[in-house]
Amino acid sequence: MSVQQTPRLAILISGRGSNFAAIHEAVRRGELVAEIVAVISNRPDAVGLEHARAWGYATFTVDHKAFPSREDHERAVLAVLRECNAEWIALAGYMRKLTATFIEPYRGRIVNIHPSLLPAFPGVDAQRQAFLHGVKVAGCTVHLVDETLDGGAIVVQRAVEVLDSDTVDTLAARILEQEHLAYVDALRRLLGGAWRVDGRRVVAAR
Ligand code: GRF
Repeated sequence: MSVQQTPRLAILISGRGSNFAAIHEAVRRGELVAEIVAVISNRPDAVGLEHARAWGYATFTVDHKAFPSREDHERAVLAVLRECNAEWIALAGYMRKLTATFIEPYRGRIVNIHPSLLPAFPGVDAQRQAFLHGVKVAGCTVHLVDETLDGGAIVVQRAVEVLDSDTVDTLAARILEQEHLAYVDALRRLLGGAWRVDGRRVVAAR
């Protein structure tokens, strides 16, 4: 009989950490089987770190400003991940572009959430980009991370209707609600293990 280990998940943040909070809540409720082994921020002032400490997680700040190059910073974050024996990485508002140095050791095990229906509106301020473009349906995407900007295989998307009365802020708030659901759903699928990449799409394993 094989003993299933609880997947060891690290969460990388840069700011408020509401997606981290949603993941925490899902783990706490038993809706997502994972152990959050580290919460790492590249910014010392990230509000999400305060929550992580209050909830008893191991927290780490690896300030990118303290390193001469992007790769040096990535190697320092990797050292923390290895120290914690992290198996999976969830980027939750982690505002750093990643290079192959970081991605290669965890390829296929790094997950990101983006607040648009990719491939529309990659990059920063996606909700504003979508709103200003005039889309009628916005949304969010959870995807595996590769070297492209917001371009890896798609795990989960959730759509949000744009209302005539919306502002960027009201639309972004409704997208965020869907992000929290989408991220937990995607992690449940990925950490559950029965999946494969078919082209650009993550699908159930046959
Ligand atoms: C979210 O909108 C996420 O999609 C984007 O950055 C934002 C992070 O928000 N990548 P939070 O820190 O999880 O609240």
